[in-house]
Amino acid sequence: MSAAGRLQGMVAIITGGGSGFGESMAHAFAREGARIVLGDMNREAGNRVCGELTALGFEAIACLVDVSKSDDMAALINAALERFGQIDVMVNNAGMSHPNRPMLDVDEAFFDRLFAVNVKSLYLSAVHCVPVFRRQKRGCFINIGSTAAVRPRPGLTWYNGSKGAVTLITKSMAVELAPDNIRVNSINPALADTPLLTTFMGTADTAENRARFLASIPLGRLCQPVDVAHAAVFLADPASNFVTGVCLEVDGGRCI
Ligand SMILES: NC(=O)c1ccc[n+]([C@@H]2O[C@H](COP(=O)([O-])OP(=O)(O)OC[C@H]3O[C@@H](n4cnc5c(N)ncnc54)[C@H](O)[C@@H]3O)[C@@H](O)[C@H]2O)c1
Repeated sequence: MSAAGRLQGMVAIITGGGSGFGESMAHAFAREGARIVLGDMNREAGNRVCGELTALGFEAIACLVDVSKSDDMAALINAALERFGQIDVMVNNAGMSHPNRPMLDVDEAFFDRLFAVNVKSLYLSAVHCVPVFRRQKRGCFINIGSTAAVRPRPGLTWYNGSKGAVTLITKSMAVELAPDNIRVNSINPALADTPLLTTFMGTADTAENRARFLASIPLGRLCQPVDVAHAAVFLADPASNFVTGVCLEVDGGRCI
């Protein structure tokens, strides 16, 4: 454990911390000295990452949470406060998508679930976390958006819209909460090598199909979880305390 980590002494909640970007952010934050609270609806995944962190000598707890449920979000915040006494960073990362398909083939129940997980979760994290940040007179939200909010691909219309909401909510929260010394930023990753990949591609994960997507990314590769983790560490770092309302593309140039 680094004694002079960039996030030394901080406490970070990471939703969806049991896989993909969330897992990578949890490791990167812990390496920089933060204590970690993982919130995931997959108990096994959350416990696995938590076990890996503690085995490395880091402090971490895992909570079973559905981010679309107010009671669960309240319990997550309370668990962080009970165990660590403070919250410095709230990473709203848990998210989902409908499989890539024509917009009218996504049914109403799926649409409602998608917006509950990807968008309502931001409302709920604000409801339960902003009062804590106001009491502390500091805090930082990092929301995981997507390049889908900037350069939408076909077949993902409702997912794209949910990430558009993440962008606007990020900027709007940033201006409204700035007087409270609360920063709000987001990260827009490009298509990444996580379990969500095939959902987004809508085709089999073959070299030929990957090549089609890679052709639209100037740096010529998919996003890796660690790319997002490095950007998140920057946004959480007190050294970026003049950065708010930013929706940072981590996309190899995809959005140019
Ligand atoms: N993978 C990509 O290509 C990509 C690109 C841009 C943005 N994103 C966004 O990044 C975020 C993370 O995606 P990922 O690729 O790491 O996904 P992932 O599927 O690897 O991990 C998501 C994690 O979130 C958890 N989760 C899902 N719904 C939840 C809920 N309602 N409550 C609590 N936990 C829940 C899952 O159990 C899982 O552990 C999402 O918001 C996604 O939209 C992904």
